[in-house]
Parts: sequence; C-alpha cells; structure tokens
Amino acid sequence: MSTFLVTGGAGFIGSNFIRYVLESTDHRVIVLDKLTYAGNRSSLEGLPANRMTFMQGDIADLGLLDELMPQVDAVVNYAAESHNDNSLNDPRPFVDTNILGTYALIESARRHDIRFHHISTDEVYGDLELDDPDRFTETTPYNPSSPYSSTKAGSDLLVRAWVRSFGLRATISNCSNNYGPYQHVEKFIPRQITNVIDGGRPRLYGEGRNVRDWIHANDHSSAVLSILERGAVGETYLIGADGEQNNKAVIETILEVMGEPAGAYDHVVDRPGHDLRYAIDSAKLRTELGWLPQYSDFRAGLEDTVQWYRDHEPWWRPQKAAAEAKYQLTGQ
Ligand code: NAD
Ligand code: DAU
Repeated sequence: MSTFLVTGGAGFIGSNFIRYVLESTDHRVIVLDKLTYAGNRSSLEGLPANRMTFMQGDIADLGLLDELMPQVDAVVNYAAESHNDNSLNDPRPFVDTNILGTYALIESARRHDIRFHHISTDEVYGDLELDDPDRFTETTPYNPSSPYSSTKAGSDLLVRAWVRSFGLRATISNCSNNYGPYQHVEKFIPRQITNVIDGGRPRLYGEGRNVRDWIHANDHSSAVLSILERGAVGETYLIGADGEQNNKAVIETILEVMGEPAGAYDHVVDRPGHDLRYAIDSAKLRTELGWLPQYSDFRAGLEDTVQWYRDHEPWWRPQKAAAEAKYQLTGQ
C-alpha cells in the first residue's frame, strides 16, 4: 500500500484518477489543489474519507511541498492551467503553474527523494497533417504551438533535466484528448452537450476538420497507474486509445445521441494557431507495460458522458454562464 500526493486532484482527470485508484487498489491519496476556477471539490464527493485527505494549496508553494513530501511515497502531478483558449487570452497563469509550479514540485521531490510522475500532453509535439501516416511517438521532436502547450513542453523538459542532473526518480506521460465525467464545461465535448441541454446549439471552430485522438479518462487513469507500478524511471510513455475523430464528426455524433438533427450546430471563429491533428502511437506502453484501453467504442463512451451531464446538472450549472461569457468575448 502506498500514499500518493495527487496534485490537481479536484480537476477533471485528477479526480477521475483518484476515484479509479481508491476503487481499484488499497492505496491512499493526499490531494493538493489550489481550487482555481477549474477545480471543484464536489468532484471528490463520496470517496472514502479514511483513505483521502484534501488540502487546498498551490504547487508553487515550496514550503508547503516540503511539509507534504515526507508523508507520501509518490507524487502524481495533474495540476495545471489546461485550456488552450484561456492561454491565448492570458498566458501568465500558465507560466506560473505549469512551469514554476512544476519546478517547485520536482525541487521538493528531489530533496526528499520521492518518486515523481508528471502528467503531460500530446500537444508538446505540435500537430500533424491530416494525411500523415506517422503518429506521435516518444521520440517525436517537441514543437508546441500555443502558450498552453509550450508551458507543458517546458515543464516536461524541466522534469527530464532533473532526472539526468539530479537523479530524480521520475516518469512522464503524454496523453491525447480525454473525455468522460467531471470535465469542465469550457472544454469541447461538455460545452456542446450542455449547450444542447440548455436548448442552444453546438459551436464548431472553423470548418471542424481538426482531428483529436479521444481517450476515456478511465483509460488514462489505468495507464498512469501502470506507469507508477511498472514504469521505468527516466522514461516517457505516450498514452492513446486509437480514437481519432474530427471535430465535425464529434458534434454530429453528440447531436445524434441527444436526438437532435445532424446540422443543428453553428460554425464560429476559429482558434488562432489551431493545431490540425493529434495522433498517438502508444505501442511502447502496450508492449512494455501490457496496458490496454477498455473503452474502444467512442460512441458508447459519448452516450455515457451525455447521460452523466444530464444526471449531474448541479455539478456543472454553476460554471456554465461564466464559461460562455468568456467565449462571447472572442465570438466563439
Ligand atoms: P483541469 O483544468 O480540469 O484541472 C486542473 C486542476 O489543477 C484544477 O483542479 C485546478 O484547481 C488545479 N490547479 C491549477 N493550478 C494549480 C496550482 N497552481 N496548484 C495546485 N492546483 C492547481 O485539467 P485536466 O483537464 O484535468 O488536466 C489535468 C492534467 O492533464 C494537466 O496537466 C493537463 O495538461 C493534462 N492533460 C489533459 C488532457 C485533457 O484532455 N484534458 C490530455 C492530456 C494531458
Ligand atoms: O491533446 C490533449 C489536450 O486536449 C490537453 O492537453 C488539453 O489540456 C485539453 O484541453 C485538450 O486540448 P484541445 O485544445 O484539443 O481541447 P478543447 O476541448 O479545447 O478542444 C478540442 C477541439 O475542439 C479543438 O480542435 C478545438 C475545438 N473546439 C473547442 C471548443 C471549446 C470547437 O470546435 N468548439 C468549441 O466550442
């Protein structure tokens, strides 16, 4: 039995990971989360209180980290500013949390010799052409496009340097686009689902040819746990579930699942610098660690997700108006 410090555990993927760990293992969790606009304490409701402790705080607070490190066996760093559109409007919090926050975590982890796992994104590799036969692998050169992805790339490089220079016992995973319960309504899939629930229409950036490689958050969680349990220190693992879909197709599926006509959506202003396509080759994770995704049917996963948002309006309703107000400023 181990104790994990899970940073960003009140966010979308962190809260799914904590639920997954508490339900499938006997590990304990200490959650460190700043509760920014994206953090939601209620995402952790109902989990066993005797195995989870919640602490509100900033990953950039070295003094706090030095108090927490001796209490844990490993750190899993999900804390981040995570939304590309926000990073285009105000990049500063992305530098503060994604770069300086990661710096503080790895500095404290090395002082206390604590195993560290850094959660990152496929966006560090830039984007692919639609017809490129190659997908991202662990050796693809970094080429990030947005303030968000460049700060994530910077954080990955810091972790790599701490491994090489200081012997930090760290691993990194770069995952593709997640979907599932507890995702903030600013993000693509929950935004469209909740627009339709509200009697509005989905909003598609540009022509909607952009491709994302969708993975259910539970599959991301099982992959991260595999890396914590069996991953080799110093290694990077790409996480993906062969889920490529273009945005137009995703909106059309959401509309179909929700019983709306196929064309009932609006084209809106495109995202500046919008990455065209992400696609992950997760062969290393599958062959070396024996990981396999469980959610192979994207449409079925979307149906479950639509139902979750229908059933959990009190969870997302308080954020909806503010998220849409931000989009109004850019005509999106
Ligand atoms: P999210 O925005 O839903 O959650 C982020 C959480 O971090 C929130 O609870 C927030 O309060 C917390 N946080 C922010 N700044 C903090 C700070 N300074 N100190 C402590 N806590 C802080 O994000 P998410 O979508 O769950 O993403 C989690 C991680 O996974 C991020 O590192 C992101 O880059 C990575 N990732 C996300 C996806 C995706 O599809 N969402 C895919 C691959 C990788
Ligand atoms: O690839 C992993 C990344 O996936 C993570 O690192 C990020 O944290 C996560 O937010 C996500 O980034 P994206 O920018 O791909 O996700 P987002 O949900 O913002 O948008 C998905 C796609 O949908 C993207 O091509 C933009 C488009 N989009 C988005 C919104 C919000 C729309 O067409 N309409 C919308 O209303």
